[in-house]
Amino acid sequence: MKNNRKKNIRLGVNIDHVATLRNARKENFPSPVKAAELAIHSGADSITAHLREDRRHINDNDIKEISLNFPGKLNLEMAATEEMLAIAEKIKPFSCCIVPEKREEVTTEGGLDVINNHHKLKPMIKSLRDIGVRTTLFIDPDESHLEACYDLQIDCAEIHCGTLCRLHEKNDENFDFEFNKIKTFSKKLFSNGIEAHAGHGLNYETSKIISSVNEIEELNIGFFIIAESILHGLEKTIINLKESMIAGRLLKDE
Ligand code: PXP
Repeated sequence: MKNNRKKNIRLGVNIDHVATLRNARKENFPSPVKAAELAIHSGADSITAHLREDRRHINDNDIKEISLNFPGKLNLEMAATEEMLAIAEKIKPFSCCIVPEKREEVTTEGGLDVINNHHKLKPMIKSLRDIGVRTTLFIDPDESHLEACYDLQIDCAEIHCGTLCRLHEKNDENFDFEFNKIKTFSKKLFSNGIEAHAGHGLNYETSKIISSVNEIEELNIGFFIIAESILHGLEKTIINLKESMIAGRLLKDE
C-alpha cells in the first residue's frame, strides 16, 4: 500500500527587513533579535539572516546576538566570499545558505551558478562541513546544476521559487510548468540525499502550494511575513498609543 503520510515541514523566518526598518531611521529599534525571539516563540523553526557585503540590513552584531541567544537556530545567509567564511567559522551558525550577491540588486535575484562557481564553493563547503555547519546552496530548479550539487556534498538545496511566485501573482499559464519543474527537482534532490528547501517571494497562497510537495522540508520566508506583520500590528499599536495619550490627559498638571 502506498504510504501517503506527509513529512513535517519547517519554517525559517527571515528577519532581514526588521533591520531594514531599523536602519532607515538609524535607531536601535525594531530589534531583529527581539523579532527572532517572537518568531521562535510563535513556532518558527529557525531564523534566517542575510549578512550582506554592504551590511544594508543585518549587521555583524545582529548575527552575533542571534547566534548567542538562539543556539541551533541561526541559518546564516551569505555570499561565497573569504570574509563571510571567516565570520561563519567564528560564529558557527546551525546552517549556512550560500547565495549569489550583487551590490546593486534590491534582493537576491536568482539561484547560484553552481557549475561556474564549483571551484570556489568546494573548499568553502568543506570548511563549513568540517566545523559541523549544515550547508545549503540557493539554486534555481535547473537540472543542469544537479551533478555539481551532488559532487559538492551539500546537505540541503534551497530552491529559488521567485519565478513561481511571480507566475502565480500574474495568473500566468506557465505556472504549472514551473511548479512541475520544482516538484521534479525536489524529488531528484531527495533521492540523492539532499534535503530540499524553498524560498523567495512566498506568501500564504504560494507557501501552501509549495508545502504540497512532500519532498520539500523547509520554507524560508521574509518579506511577506514582515509586511503582513506591519499591517496586523498597526491596529494594536494605535490602540496602545491612544491609551497612553488618554492616560497622559488624566495626569495632574504639575
Ligand atoms: N531564501 C533566500 C536564499 C533568500 O535570499 C531570500 C531573500 O533574502 C529568502 C529566502 C526570503 O525571500 P522573501 O524575503 O522574498 O520571503
